[in-house]
Amino acid sequence: MSEIRRIGILTGGGDAPGLNAVIRAVTKSAILDHGWSVIGFRNGFEGCITGEFEELNLSSVRGILPRGGTILGASNRCNPFSFQNTSAGEDAPRDHSDDVIQRFQDLEIDAVVVIGGDGTMSISNELSRKGVQVIGIPKTIDNDVRGTKVTFGFDTAVTTATEAIDKLHTTAESHHRVMIVELMGRTAGWITLYAGVAGGADIILIPELPFHMDSIKDKIERRARLGSYFTIIAIAEGAQPVDGRAIYETIGDEWYQKRFGGIGSWLEHELSQQLEQEVRSVVLGHLQRGGEPTARDRALGTMMGTYAVDLLAEGETNRMVSISRDPMGQSSTDMTSVPLVVATRGPRHVPISHPLIRSARVMDVCVGEPWHAHGKES
Ligand code: F6P
Repeated sequence: MSEIRRIGILTGGGDAPGLNAVIRAVTKSAILDHGWSVIGFRNGFEGCITGEFEELNLSSVRGILPRGGTILGASNRCNPFSFQNTSAGEDAPRDHSDDVIQRFQDLEIDAVVVIGGDGTMSISNELSRKGVQVIGIPKTIDNDVRGTKVTFGFDTAVTTATEAIDKLHTTAESHHRVMIVELMGRTAGWITLYAGVAGGADIILIPELPFHMDSIKDKIERRARLGSYFTIIAIAEGAQPVDGRAIYETIGDEWYQKRFGGIGSWLEHELSQQLEQEVRSVVLGHLQRGGEPTARDRALGTMMGTYAVDLLAEGETNRMVSISRDPMGQSSTDMTSVPLVVATRGPRHVPISHPLIRSARVMDVCVGEPWHAHGKES
């Protein structure tokens, strides 16, 4: 059994609805179940370097369960192994990992709960190799952390995206337009696939299935022939045409270098050249990350937070909390953990054999494949 008396907690990477539920669950279970104290670091690993932290007690986490964002602040620009501490006047990035470890020692922190995506898990894995006791909790609205079948934040993002598609339906139908909605998902199309199916999109384009322009055009024209003079297209920001490439901006450091966005307006432009119908696009962007978490994400975050503390209490370290079965496809969710290193092996893509892709095809949704692969005129 562990000798823990104090733990640290931080939220790395972009925010996701449900982070506060996790912070609350970790804090309450550490204090109430084990009598440990909890130090919250501000802005991910940055707070460990700059010394921005606070003790979290029961009143610090009161009332935060339904709140979006993270009370600790987040940063997806701080890799302690290569970080330029501008507040200390540094003019170039350097390795601050020993400073982080020193900070934990100075504060008598015995173990750290790190909530984040694959980048945060990679950093945590490196820190654990240097002797830090870490338990990771996977977080991203994109649902693409390897080693878990679901992350909190995903359900809220899908709910927001589905509502957006519902709203686009009424205006698209009134104006007889093709409406494109660009959704988040850099290399994995989970949000677009789930929201696209839930919202009844006619065309769903995800990074895992590079799309053929002809099949999109054919689908729109066929709908018009059959009397539906409007079409909804849900496209992931990382989707790409078979003969093109994904659209992103390279923004600097090696750890977080691609800012996606623009494929929706590219598609709008291309389709406008080829169709008589008016084509318009919208980008849902950070609306998918903001706002109150759904009940499901609050419950999942709470479950993951308490489980992370249980793992530490059992003396486990260098592991990431995981849900081992897809809750949408199974009758129960299985709470377990995997070695942190699993999360560092690249994003978890939508398998082409996923039952939701099959269902979409059966619903006569175009998923961008060549025309003959789907659809029947009837
Ligand atoms: O990883 C989650 C995510 O929402 C991606 O889908 C998106 O590309 C990225 O974050 C945007 O991050 P930022 O807020 O740093 O631009």
